[in-house]
Order: sequence, then structure tokens, then C-alpha cells
Amino acid sequence: MSNSFFQKDIVSVRDFDKQKFETVFQATDKIIEMNPNERRELVRGKTLGYLFFEPSTRTRLSFEAAMASIGGTSLGISDASSSSAKKGESLADTVKIMSLYSDVLILRHQLDGSSRFAAEISEKPLINAGSGTEEHPTQAILDLYTIRKEKKKIDGLKIGIVGDLKYGRTVYSLLYALSNYNVNVKLISPPSLKIRSDSTYEIRKKLQYTETSDLEENIEDLDVIYVTRIQKERFADIEEYVKVRGSYKIGTELVKKIKDDAIIMHPLPRLDEISPEIDSTKQAKYFKQAQYGKDTRAALLALILNENGI
Ligand code: NCD
Repeated sequence: MSNSFFQKDIVSVRDFDKQKFETVFQATDKIIEMNPNERRELVRGKTLGYLFFEPSTRTRLSFEAAMASIGGTSLGISDASSSSAKKGESLADTVKIMSLYSDVLILRHQLDGSSRFAAEISEKPLINAGSGTEEHPTQAILDLYTIRKEKKKIDGLKIGIVGDLKYGRTVYSLLYALSNYNVNVKLISPPSLKIRSDSTYEIRKKLQYTETSDLEENIEDLDVIYVTRIQKERFADIEEYVKVRGSYKIGTELVKKIKDDAIIMHPLPRLDEISPEIDSTKQAKYFKQAQYGKDTRAALLALILNENGI
């Protein structure tokens, strides 16, 4: 019987249950332990095609590094303005062409719904690498993996999610993902950047959460502090951005208040919400998190491309 990821799209975390997360986590553990020669046999001869209509550092590079580490190759468009999209070629045609040249596709696009649409067109499995303000499913997978690895569990934790909860797509994927676990979530944002009500219906049904704007008052008893960037590029009115810019800054004073065994996470890129001085504290896990991004993506690619899994 094929593994449940074989030749499947990854469009939304809403399609995941605990079992599916566990399959990826276990595959990731195995990938990390494998010897490199054995690992390079996993998808030998397969090609990853990437299409990025928005900037990216970690997502694209970690996917490429992941593909190389399991023996595959990558090709793609990292800047759509250098592709025929600039001449007016449609997303549909671009995706169709890429699916002729590769075995699995990843797409980042500014529109909500772009990945769902592209997955219908693509003849090969398609992974959503960020769709508008909607979702970023592989980020949620690596976020949960980081929590599981660094805290040794997910259930029972107090998790604070801080920053731009209105426009941050990593936040929605993370909340959908956490809905499968028994966690206590504190949503910390300026009032104008609370989670969107159109997206909370499912989250409200399953997840225990409270909302506040006060980070300092709530930081002491958190096990996980997940910080996000204010998404300047998503604001319709720049004046609104200026009002909330720099709302939260985690610096050396604030870190003194957090639990000794808490972890600080961030999907990155960071602007000024975490001071570089924090990087050397034992609670800072955001670079480790980026490293797990490569491992979890390698596991996911190997599962999608190998009928028998890993
Ligand atoms: C995030 C994104 O693109 O949504 N970046 C990432 O993939 N780690 C976060 C962000 O841009 O703030």
C-alpha cells in the first residue's frame, strides 16, 4: 500500500490530522539519522520545480537544499519578474509548463487560493510555499517539529503567538495545525492586528485560545513564544502600518522574565521584533527552527515521491 503522501498535493494544513503530522515527524527523524549516501538514494533522478512570485530566502533555499540532500535536483523561477509572467503569461500556463519539467512543484504567490488553483492545473503534486495571507503549510510542519523536538512534546504546552496575526499566513497554518493538539494558546497582537474573523470559525471550534495586546504581562508562563513580523507589504494603508510598527520588541530585559526552559521561535525574516542580543540565549530557537525546515521538507518530498515512504 502506498504511503498517504505519495503523489499528493500539500495545499492546506486543514487537510492534516495528528497522524499525518506524526508520519512527517517520524520520517524527519529518520532522515536526520540516515547516513548521507543512503539519504541521497531517496529521490535520485527526481526534480523539484519552484515558482516564486513573492520574495523568499528560507523556504526556497531549504527546499533546494532538502532536494539535494535526498539525491534530487531543483530548477525554477525565484523572481517572477524575470519570467514570462512579466509578458503576461497566466499562472495557469506557467504552472502547466513547470509540471512538464519537474516531478513535484512548490509555489509561492501573493493571492489567497493560488495554490488550490495551481494544484488543480498541475499534473504533478504541488506544495503550497505561501499563498497570500492564507496559509504556509510547510512552515507549520517545521514549527510543530521544532516544538516537538525542543520541548519533547506538544500537548499540554502554553503557546504565545505574537505580532501580526491578521496578515501573517504562518500564523493561520500554525493555528490550524495546533487545533489537532491539546494546547493553550495566547494570541498577542495590537488590537488592529487580531486574527481575522473569517478564518477563526474552524479554529474557534477546536482550539483553546485567548486574545490580548499585552506581551509583558503574559510572557512569564509561556512555554513557547512564537514571534512574527508585522507584514508591511500586506497593509492597504501605509499609515495603518506606521501605527503598529515596532509594537513588540523582545530584548534582554524582557527575556529575563521568561521561563528558563521556554523556547523563542520566529518563522523569519525578523525586523526589530527580536533583538540580535537574544540570539545567544539558550531560549532562542529560531535558527534551529530554520534548520529543521530543511529536514522536514526533505522528509515531505521523500514521502511525496516514494510510494513506500522512507
Ligand atoms: C514567512 C512568509 O513568507 O510567510 N516567511 C517564511 O517563509 N519563513 C514569514 C514572513 O514573511 O514574515
